[in-house]
Amino acid sequence: MKKKVTLLPGDGIGTEVMSAAVKLMHHVAEKYDLTIETTESLMGGCSYDAYGTPLTDETIQLCYESDAVLLGAVGGYKWENLAHHLKPEAALLKLRKSLGLYTNIRPAKVYPSFVNSSSLKESVILGTDFVVFRELTGGIYFGEPRGYDENKGFNTMVYEKYEIERIAHQAFKVAQKRKKVLTSVDKANVLEVSQFWRKVVEEVSKEYPDVKLNNMYVDNTAMQVVRDPRQFDVIVTSNLFGDIISDIAGMITGSLGMLPSASLGDKYALYEPVHGSAPDIAGQNKANPIAMIGSVAMMFDLSFGMKETADLIEKAIERTLDQGFRTVDINLDNGNVVSTDKMTEMIIKNFDIIYQENKESVFTL
Ligand code: IPM
Ligand code: MN
Repeated sequence: MKKKVTLLPGDGIGTEVMSAAVKLMHHVAEKYDLTIETTESLMGGCSYDAYGTPLTDETIQLCYESDAVLLGAVGGYKWENLAHHLKPEAALLKLRKSLGLYTNIRPAKVYPSFVNSSSLKESVILGTDFVVFRELTGGIYFGEPRGYDENKGFNTMVYEKYEIERIAHQAFKVAQKRKKVLTSVDKANVLEVSQFWRKVVEEVSKEYPDVKLNNMYVDNTAMQVVRDPRQFDVIVTSNLFGDIISDIAGMITGSLGMLPSASLGDKYALYEPVHGSAPDIAGQNKANPIAMIGSVAMMFDLSFGMKETADLIEKAIERTLDQGFRTVDINLDNGNVVSTDKMTEMIIKNFDIIYQENKESVFTL
């Protein structure tokens, strides 16, 4: 099998975690006779520096021609004062829209060996394992009219029926395969757009009678996620609410450096860590590669149909954490602090061991 992957390392630690993840990706692919052909392109501040725009049409075209896109992180102090449309963040939004990536999946899972690294108590977070489905190409991020003048600033939060339906279906389908509970998050006590969201999600729920649908206000959800995160399994919500809830969810797991994500549309798929470009630690071989490696695992599962391989990568991450290896961002339990390269090397090493164990156990069955 042959697959084409476009690499967009971006800025700051994006380039470091990308090279770590790509190393692992090729290593894993080789074991399965999978050839992954990669093309690399600039996006974000580095693209602005080179071409005067954070995202070129050529880069978008490359993405259209590939089976999956891997993105590191974009942005940094250097580009903060640029006009809005030239900022690295604008590139990210444009890419999501151009590729039609309306479903953003952000899992929040607490690794058992890792409970001490969270700012929350072990008794609260142990066993937490939920996933946020965030709508990614609509809502207030893209609604018109928008703008500001001397006297006012304004944005529009709008959802078309089809936009709510398609992400609701995605979330219900995954809920069916998990614990059959879906929490839809809105602000229906105040916003009409949320009342409509709730109505459409309830209609869609009729097609999934085996899944229990709970509606929850976003402010309450923010509180519940830190009070009792185990109550959640699958969450579905709009673009802005999902942005906020997924950051809160990230801290439960200890660090945003742990969280992978997948953004899917009908034709294209993009995988990126939830964290940003962390310019303060860039270039120092300190960044945590786990979120990026986890994003590669999601690519194996969702774009290449290789769920077992993805599970082995997950297990390799877990075992490496069990062995006490920590990057600086997750060293609250005073583990063995290692560099990006060392962490990656250990995950690859553990992958090989787990792959072998797995092969042998299949053989003896
Ligand atoms: C995210 C980020 C982006 C977002 C920014 C950088 C535009 O916070 O991916 O969560 O708000 O979607
Ligand atoms: Mn965010």
